[in-house]
Amino acid sequence: MRIDVVTIFPEYLAPLGVSLIGKAAERRVLEIRTHDLRQWTSDVHRTVDDSPYGGGPGMVMKPEPWGDALDAITANPLPESPEVAPTLVVPTPSGRPFTQAKAAELAERSWLIFACGRYEGIDRRAIEAAADRMPVEELSLGDYVLAGGEVAVLVMVEAIGRLLPGVLGNADSARDDSFAAGPMESLLEGPVYTKPAQWRGRGVPEILTSGNHGAIARWRRDQALARTVANRPELLARLDPVTLDKYDRATLAGLGWEVRDGRVERTEAEDFVDKQGS
Ligand code: ADE
Repeated sequence: MRIDVVTIFPEYLAPLGVSLIGKAAERRVLEIRTHDLRQWTSDVHRTVDDSPYGGGPGMVMKPEPWGDALDAITANPLPESPEVAPTLVVPTPSGRPFTQAKAAELAERSWLIFACGRYEGIDRRAIEAAADRMPVEELSLGDYVLAGGEVAVLVMVEAIGRLLPGVLGNADSARDDSFAAGPMESLLEGPVYTKPAQWRGRGVPEILTSGNHGAIARWRRDQALARTVANRPELLARLDPVTLDKYDRATLAGLGWEVRDGRVERTEAEDFVDKQGS
């Protein structure tokens, strides 16, 4: 996969050279090119921003450097498949949610360009002009506002990069992730343990040392259900009841949840107590 990142702070992207993603780049699974947006400015001050039309606080990124940057980068297509158009990813708090499913979708593309906005964002015309030529994904990490897209790019490239074939040492480790499609979709991963068996007076759940793989898988599933109920109960509504066996249903019942009208919901008694209390 080729990744181009356009930013006014190229040094912000240095962590992409480290650890999992850095090693993937060394092994040429990934090719990451970072570009300084200011190389596509033409004035002495290398200006990339201006005040917003219509007034208001802050500054807006000018369209010309972005247009020229995208022209220059797309003028060098992939040597192995010159017909492939890149996908432009624009991190912004106004975008659609960046999810594990979106990471998996983007991991299938062979070329991504990330545009790091700063200030109040990028002039809309630059995004629209890009969308005439390539798919554009405006994506948000979450309901909070960062100072710019650089940190979001670090997050997205790591989430996407670890899904590429050959990046993770163990092909199964992505399969059991929280949010991964499959048996753990819409469930958080439960707790994990390693040696020593005793640490500061604390042991390890006995089942994990039993060698009974069926029982361990069941215990992990119960822990995942319990953690999801405790930390992200809104995710339970996304569970397809068809994927819940009788043991899942018994665990959920013990946690105050049940399948009702084809959905996972709080048991009626718990709902009643909640409503009385509020
Ligand atoms: N840029 C600023 N805030 C952001 C967010 N929440 N997600 C993605 N990009 C951003």
